[in-house]
Amino acid sequence: MRVPMIAGNWKMNTTVSEAIELVNQMRRGLDEIADVDKVICPPFISLAAVRELIKGSSIKLGAQNIYFEEKGAYTGEISPLMLADLCEFVIIGHSERRHYFNESGEIVNKKIRAALKAGLKPILCIGERLEENEAGRTKEVLTEQLRSSLAGIDNLGGLIIAYEPVWAIGTGRAATGKQANETVGFIRQTISQKYGKRIAQDLRILYGGSVTAANTDEFMQQPEIDGALVGGASLKADQFLSIVRQTSEIKGESKRGEASLI
Ligand code: PGA
Repeated sequence: MRVPMIAGNWKMNTTVSEAIELVNQMRRGLDEIADVDKVICPPFISLAAVRELIKGSSIKLGAQNIYFEEKGAYTGEISPLMLADLCEFVIIGHSERRHYFNESGEIVNKKIRAALKAGLKPILCIGERLEENEAGRTKEVLTEQLRSSLAGIDNLGGLIIAYEPVWAIGTGRAATGKQANETVGFIRQTISQKYGKRIAQDLRILYGGSVTAANTDEFMQQPEIDGALVGGASLKADQFLSIVRQTSEIKGESKRGEASLI
């Protein structure tokens, strides 16, 4: 049974003191919600402070990026070894990194390998652009992104995939639950072809792109979608708490439903 997960990607927002304040606003509420993995991904410079604040709680920590070398003369970069000491998850291949920082599939692949080697759980982001979607090329684009990101990787470790259609990120124009469910199903099928049915069934696949407290219900009702990667709405304590709470309720209910059928 896949444990649902909600991850908040704070992106390049919050100073250290703002990050502390935001965690203080949601720590207790988040900690009380069961049956969901609750992950927050603040900027690098706040990871250490946030880690102290959430110690002893059920909240988990993630980073937003990584470099693929372990150490050395790479001015300004953060290595897997540094992160493994601080957090459990790391977002890799976010579309903003692919587009603004020219991260190729090859770089994403190196980062995934480095993260897995260091014992980190990558949250691999994939998704098509608007023009690709409109040209009916979504499956082709996702297949290629999965192929290049996971090339040569035999063991997925704790990897998680986030399906994030680029046209839905930060635009307020989310996909529909049905659309996203179909595409996530396709991703699972593609993973199944390479890694086998068992691995694919256990793999958590999230939806991301303009998820808010108002549309969480639509996405979490979908059987293929195991949670969400939330950007803008993760910066507002009440919104984020509501998203996590709804996920726990909806996914918990469907789990109880499944259990009663056995
Ligand atoms: P958004 O961002 O929720 O603000 O659309 C999602 C993401 O980029 O992960």
